[in-house]
Amino acid sequence: MENFVFHNYTKTIFGKGMEDTVGKEIKAYADKVLLHYGGGSIKKSGLYDRVVKSLKAADVEFVELGGVQPNPRLKLVYEGIELCKKENIGFILAVGGGSVIDSSKAIALGVKYSGDVWDFYAGKAQATEALPVATVLTIPAAGSESSPSSVITNDDIKIKSGYTSNITRPVFSILNPEYCFTLPKNQAANGICDMMVHIFERYFTNTENADLTDRLCEATLKSIMYNAPKIMKNMSDYDAWAEIMWASSVAHNDILGVGRKQDWASHAIEHEISAIYDIAHGAGLAIISPAWMKYAYKDNVPMFTQFARNVMGVEGSFKHPDELILTAISRLESFYKSIGLPTRLSDLDIGEENIELMAEKCVGDGCCGGLKKLYKQDVVEIYKLAK
Ligand code: NZQ
Ligand code: ZN
Repeated sequence: MENFVFHNYTKTIFGKGMEDTVGKEIKAYADKVLLHYGGGSIKKSGLYDRVVKSLKAADVEFVELGGVQPNPRLKLVYEGIELCKKENIGFILAVGGGSVIDSSKAIALGVKYSGDVWDFYAGKAQATEALPVATVLTIPAAGSESSPSSVITNDDIKIKSGYTSNITRPVFSILNPEYCFTLPKNQAANGICDMMVHIFERYFTNTENADLTDRLCEATLKSIMYNAPKIMKNMSDYDAWAEIMWASSVAHNDILGVGRKQDWASHAIEHEISAIYDIAHGAGLAIISPAWMKYAYKDNVPMFTQFARNVMGVEGSFKHPDELILTAISRLESFYKSIGLPTRLSDLDIGEENIELMAEKCVGDGCCGGLKKLYKQDVVEIYKLAK
């Protein structure tokens, strides 16, 4: 195991009715907030009304900015920064999914920065300050509710880029699984895939003697795969959603990634697809993660054999590990399909036209990946395996 520091700053407030505490929780930080949300699902579900009622009861003033799109755009971030400055706002409340939360984090960074907030996402600056952000989560997926990361799309140059800094970890996040009941099935499936791949990115490593995190990763993956079909059968299954919603935070708050080198190639490769084609991140990962496994497994056969046995339940002779591993990958693809996810680029009508460009943007002058270092040609091969 490698040295590590684990400090998760986010207070998680979990369960039925907990959204009613949002005003009281915020009052400890600020008297005036930006209420940031997406395209309207929170109004349909009634969550918006509950949040507003709680803010008013706690005497917290708020200014609204809705309209965050999936794959959140830089343009709205700029708007949010201006609004916060004009209204002298010191706190941001994100009510929604990863896109709303990431947009909030970017606004929080921009308000405290004299330059262009895109500098952080372009790797040109490191942040030292940000407004505090809190969340009321409505889709378990991205894990942004307790992660230090945000991912923003700059539409003008078709680049989707992430920035990671502990100062953007939400100060608190409220998770009430009941608000997942209104999710469209495809969004639920996208989220399930995203959280699984957050675990894969940490699980598949060359670091040895990291048994505890190996076992934690395996248990979390199995819990997700056990509960996902229950949700697909009954979108109002509170107990199954509770497991899935907590798993989304556990998958990405880094408790599963400590003491081990992480990979993150599948995410880097997927981000180039959603930057150009504006597809859901989770759907892109369902296509890329099996292709990455097929391409990378030979670099660490014992790790992938362990995955086959402990996660995918493949039994058979360890004299033929390739067979075990390929069976495990094929079972993973079947699982994705069973919850309605695409597993090939062609399922989303994406052809080969941008493969070279995406691979080039993905690695720049360098490479990506921890378990297997991937250069441009490797990434091209993975996109081809995903055709
Ligand atoms: O906009 P509204 O109307 O709210 O609708 C949303 C949106 O259309 C809908 N939705 C959310 N909760 C709902 C609901 N519809 C009905 N009932 C509910 N309860 O779902 C759609 C997708 O929402 P979005 O926020 O885009 O989903 P997700 O949480 O998957 O976020 C995806 C974004 O997060 C980034 C992704 O790249 C992508 O841009 N990621 C962020 C990470 C981070 N910050 O740590 C890590 C991830 O790897 C990921 O890259
Ligand atoms: Zn992700």
